Amino acid sequence: GAPIEVDLTPIASGQDIKVFWRGKPIYIMNRTKKQIDEARSVPVASLPDPQADQARVKEGHDQWLVVIGICTHLGCIPIAHEGNYDGFFCPCHGSQYDSSGRIRQGPAPANLAVPPYQFVSDSKIQIG
Ligand code: FES
Repeated sequence: GAPIEVDLTPIASGQDIKVFWRGKPIYIMNRTKKQIDEARSVPVASLPDPQADQARVKEGHDQWLVVIGICTHLGCIPIAHEGNYDGFFCPCHGSQYDSSGRIRQGPAPANLAVPPYQFVSDSKIQIG
């Protein structure tokens, strides 16, 4: 599949959109300061799949979370802005992901994957 470009301008703070890349749902979330602070205040070593939030976003674009919206348990599509961690909730078996897309609770073994992407301007990314 070819790379896709996504204009971030319409996504207000606290909102997200879902796009498709290579047939996969991709969530692009414009995180609030509260969501970023929550993601960065948890000790990384305490996480089931330890990854710093800073390693999952692009430096200087810290409010933008871009993740593949496929639950790492059995592949359902988690719902954004649901669950106990201000992130994503998978309705299939109850996995809870935080505002960095990291697994926090439930049967999923790993964080939501971050697809390859880059900022081509302050308000546009290219995925793929
Ligand atoms: Fe998401 Fe099982 S597929 S919790």
